[in-house]
Amino acid sequence: MYMTDSLSIKEKVKERYGKVALTGDSCCGPSVSFESEGRGGCCSGNNNTILQSSQSPVQVSELVGYGSKEMKSIPEDSILGAGCGTPTKFAFIKEGGTVVDLGSGAGIDVFLAANIVKGSGRVIGIDMTDEMLEKASKNAADNGYTNVEFRKGDIEERIPVDDNSVDVVISNCVINLTTDKVKTFREIHRILKPNRIGRMVISDLVTDKQIAEDTSSIDPDKWCSCIDGALTKENYIASIKKGGFENVEVLDEKIYTEGDQVDKRRISSLVVKTVKD
Ligand SMILES: C[S@@+](CC[C@H](N)C(=O)[O-])C[C@H]1O[C@@H](n2cnc3c(N)ncnc32)[C@H](O)[C@@H]1O
Repeated sequence: MYMTDSLSIKEKVKERYGKVALTGDSCCGPSVSFESEGRGGCCSGNNNTILQSSQSPVQVSELVGYGSKEMKSIPEDSILGAGCGTPTKFAFIKEGGTVVDLGSGAGIDVFLAANIVKGSGRVIGIDMTDEMLEKASKNAADNGYTNVEFRKGDIEERIPVDDNSVDVVISNCVINLTTDKVKTFREIHRILKPNRIGRMVISDLVTDKQIAEDTSSIDPDKWCSCIDGALTKENYIASIKKGGFENVEVLDEKIYTEGDQVDKRRISSLVVKTVKD
């Protein structure tokens, strides 16, 4: 993809998620369902019906797998219904650990991780959208979280975190929005602790039919909806490996949309795990 195009996509992504932060409007993905469980996903409803505007971000988040008890344990304003999975459930985060959440939005997974690492640990949320960073920081301040911080950064350029310093990288429905996935995974590899201590556990969307990389086939709105930027599962895993990781495990996989919903493309939600050697 040409630089100007990736820059203009990025501006669109910031605009879209800036609005999500300000208005609370969802979200990531089209109208679909987690068919394996008969549950709706982000911007979706059961049985392939469109998400009802009456569905709150909390209800949407329940549909992608968050428990009501865990959602009650974090600031309500951090829940946007913008994720496509629950990476914190799979990440084996430990008390005292250092966790980084990429594309942290209003902070949902940052606060869940912060409740686990407790006072001796630290959770850093990274986002490139100012409105999201403001909302997340306000959520932290209003709710007395002292073990979290939010930093501005473009995760595919440079993650503003030191080399070899992080126990767990999490991310929820974000990397599909980046224009250079390999660069993003290289950055993740750089910040993780070596010797199989540092690990990445992320949720993201993939598709059965990736669109061609020429700019004429890209629809910026569909990119922002986590569709046109989605890779095939095979290419997604290959990108992680090109980023420097050796073994990639798929921990969970759910159908997110059936083919008739988006240009006959099927979209799936994955949770993948890898460790840094
Ligand atoms: C679909 S939302 C998910 C937010 C959050 N993870 C959640 O589950 O609520 C995507 C987020 O990723 C951020 N984002 C997208 N591309 C990014 C990039 N290249 N660098 C940093 N943040 C990015 C957006 O600003 C937005 O807040």
